[in-house]
Amino acid sequence: MTTELQATVDALVQKGKGILAADESGPTIAKRFKAIALDSTEENRRAYRSLLLTTPQAGRYLSGVIFYEETLTQNADDGEPLPQLAARQGIVPGIKVDAGKIPLALSPGDEITQGLDGLAERLQGYKQHGARFAKWRAVYNVSATLPSRAAVEANAEALARYAAICQAESVVPIVEPEVLIDGDHTMARCAEVTQAVLQEVFRALQRHRVALEHMLLKPSMVVPGKTHAQQASPAEVAAATLRVLRRTVPAAVPGINFLSGGQSPAEATANLDALNRLGAQPWSLSFSYGRALQDPVLQAWQGKAAQLRPAQDALLKRARLNGAASEGKYEAAMEAAST
Ligand code: 13P
Repeated sequence: MTTELQATVDALVQKGKGILAADESGPTIAKRFKAIALDSTEENRRAYRSLLLTTPQAGRYLSGVIFYEETLTQNADDGEPLPQLAARQGIVPGIKVDAGKIPLALSPGDEITQGLDGLAERLQGYKQHGARFAKWRAVYNVSATLPSRAAVEANAEALARYAAICQAESVVPIVEPEVLIDGDHTMARCAEVTQAVLQEVFRALQRHRVALEHMLLKPSMVVPGKTHAQQASPAEVAAATLRVLRRTVPAAVPGINFLSGGQSPAEATANLDALNRLGAQPWSLSFSYGRALQDPVLQAWQGKAAQLRPAQDALLKRARLNGAASEGKYEAAMEAAST
């Protein structure tokens, strides 16, 4: 069991590579497609995820891909199952296993993620389709009073129980506590909330005996609220984020793969690069971006088969630039190149 988990961690944590989050739930992918006036039919979703995974050379910069359940059983145009296609590209297939968030009862403004019931059995099924790692996302709304202590504790407990169940099934858990970017709060408030959240998450993980060596953390960066008057430079984001991570994430954790959380593609890349320019850390610092990798792809594709190549070029470009950022070797000038 340990060797299987270790092999998956080793495959995911590779120099110059990161993870593609392509695990949008039904409502979320419908929202992304609506932006390009495309209906969210099963065939359109299949065609799109197939486009992502058939991108030539994608495995040079992507070590893993997170699928939504439906994608595990879909095939590429030539009939090859998408998880198999990913694995053939050197990209480890993973699966989002939470069942989404609901309001936390009696805690107005807070949310809790559900999906623990029957999780072990579901994981066994996902493994048969090739999934080797999983993802569970907890979300925290930020205000002067949110998240409540109850929300911080309840979400930490759920994340830890999820991670323990994954490891018992030899599936590597990605633990994703997302402190939301929405709102006009300061960067200091984001730092304060992120620190409290991560402290509680690691306390719960240890309580549930999760092997920190065999998990990945997927946090949000420390940034000012989206509508806060003063936005932060990559150097400021990097310094504030690293301060919180060093205070809260044990050195046993092999990798930290950030979510993009509403940052633009170029911002997410520049911030990751700035983080990696601050010197060697106990953990690798890479990406597990959804929107920051896919927005340019959707824009190039527009749901048109004839636009396949430009769309794949857009994915490869963002993957390559984020790969460079994961080594602190990104330059803004790289944005100008067409591919
Ligand atoms: P974003 O990078 O778009 O935040 O998506 C990452 C993710 O997996 C959210 O759960």
